[in-house]
Amino acid sequence: MPELSEILKGFEDHSSLFENEIRKINVPVSSIFLNKGHIMPAAFKKTDQVIGTNDAARVNIEYPKTVKQTENRVLIGEKSNICVAGKRIAVLFSGGPAAGGHNVIAGLKMVIGRNNTLIGVKNGPKGLIEGTVFEIKEEDIPKIINTGGFDFLGTDRTKIKTSEQMAGVKKTAFDNRLNGIVIVGGDDSNTNAAMLAEFLYDDGVQVIGVPKTIDGDLQVEGTIPISFGFDTATKIYSEMVGNILQDTPSSHKYWHFIKLMGRSASHVALEVALQTKPAIALISEEVEAKKMHLSEIVNQICDIVAKRASTGINHGAVIVPEGLIEFIPEMKILIAELNEIIGKFSVDMEKFEDFNEKIEFIYKKLTPDSAKLLGSLPEEIEKMLLQERDSHGNLLVSQIPTERLLIQMVEEKLKEMKRHPDEVKHLNMTEAQYKKFADSKFATNSHFFGYEGRCGAPTLFDAAYTFNLGLAAGSLILDGKTGYIVSVIDLDSGGRIIAIPLTGLLAIERRQGKSEFVIRKGLVEIESPAFRFFEERRPIWAEYDHFSSPGPRQIWGPVSKQLPITVALNRGYSSIYFNLGEDTKLT
Ligand code: FBP
Repeated sequence: MPELSEILKGFEDHSSLFENEIRKINVPVSSIFLNKGHIMPAAFKKTDQVIGTNDAARVNIEYPKTVKQTENRVLIGEKSNICVAGKRIAVLFSGGPAAGGHNVIAGLKMVIGRNNTLIGVKNGPKGLIEGTVFEIKEEDIPKIINTGGFDFLGTDRTKIKTSEQMAGVKKTAFDNRLNGIVIVGGDDSNTNAAMLAEFLYDDGVQVIGVPKTIDGDLQVEGTIPISFGFDTATKIYSEMVGNILQDTPSSHKYWHFIKLMGRSASHVALEVALQTKPAIALISEEVEAKKMHLSEIVNQICDIVAKRASTGINHGAVIVPEGLIEFIPEMKILIAELNEIIGKFSVDMEKFEDFNEKIEFIYKKLTPDSAKLLGSLPEEIEKMLLQERDSHGNLLVSQIPTERLLIQMVEEKLKEMKRHPDEVKHLNMTEAQYKKFADSKFATNSHFFGYEGRCGAPTLFDAAYTFNLGLAAGSLILDGKTGYIVSVIDLDSGGRIIAIPLTGLLAIERRQGKSEFVIRKGLVEIESPAFRFFEERRPIWAEYDHFSSPGPRQIWGPVSKQLPITVALNRGYSSIYFNLGEDTKLT
């Protein structure tokens, strides 16, 4: 018998009992990729569905080659006996990690087979520009299959825009005799994919995108039900929030303010709210639609805290979406002005050695209202708003402690409400209830759940979804297609594999002081079935504890087949379970 210490040493390097077991799981595969249990490439044919945004006319002029080829028509995958050899295909991750990326690679490798070569690009778009590549071998796949993270290739957020960067990509493609490039990324990365498909068209290098981001904002009605990574991240956060909620009526002590990752859109916050039923969940898109000022958000939270306190409930949780700050009308104007100034005057600002000089310069360029607002914010928030944007012009919202800002403001307001009974008149409390509230304590804890959810091992849904996306991306390249993003629809009934022309998703947006073609983020729609359902239930969750704990994400058993609730509601499914095809052994 080996010593226990020897056994434990064997669990190092991604070899825990859990990791070893998940590598062996079977995942459902769409029937178009299966022939007697073997993986086969599919072929794609044009459908009558043409897509485009309001800026389609401008897009068609800027992207003539890909548009001519795709006619902006959606493709549908079907069984085939395509037999292609000698293709060299590169794959890279771009942007933040998301669970399931390794299965995209596994799907690609398996579908292109031994007669074609898969090349891994290290460290995202930067690696594509610099040519840091290596060949992915068959023996790599069993090591990475069904594991979380992007560590096999690495990733980064470089936006490919300058002529030198484009020349770098062309050189990498030329030096490595590439026939295809698969870009696994979010809205910005797939914008890069659209641009590269056009740029490399005459060189015969095909470019295909794969929808990734835990934010869930790369979703398009009818064609992209969800981006991969969302399911895993939200299930991890839901477990954590569920556990916190379970703690609150046990200790009766705290209000927890929990910020959840998801740069702009509130899909993550909405999904976690539907999974756990907290007392309060803020949805940024609603704040924007109702033009709610920061003070109104604070008042709304205080009213619920006060009402619960008046019935003896001095605990609860407030879900705060990461991007909230950008949706509050006055903050939105301030951030837009800052983005414009930081974008336009970046060169002028480089000369300032002292941060205070930079601040002074920016303040002078702001409108008086925005300058006043910026000056009124706590210093840590002010600093965060003034920091550099990423290369796509995005504010680094994950670094802004909105949850702590809310706590400070709610504390102040509650004190006022306790001092002045007039302030709670609208809550119609009895005298005894008011006394209970006035005597209550408001103790808080703040949390930010973000990085914890991005790299966990994929849920069964993400493992299956990404494997099928990889099979689809590889098939498209073998089938000679370029300028598409892959997707799986009908997630509840076997899954249909489609490809969407990237140019059909492009629209014009202001970024860092310039108009640019971008794939717009799909935000939470307040008319959507998921939001409507949440809206109907939240007054009930606010009043008393109705939370439930969804538990840890499951990879085996019946619970493992659960779809994200927002996806099931918004896509009009009648079941909460997914069905993506036949369970297939991958290793
Ligand atoms: P992607 O859209 O690139 O997938 O990134 C998602 C995300 O996790 C956001 O939710 C978050 O705001 C951001 O990345 C954090 O980025 P970083 O890793 O640069 O801190």
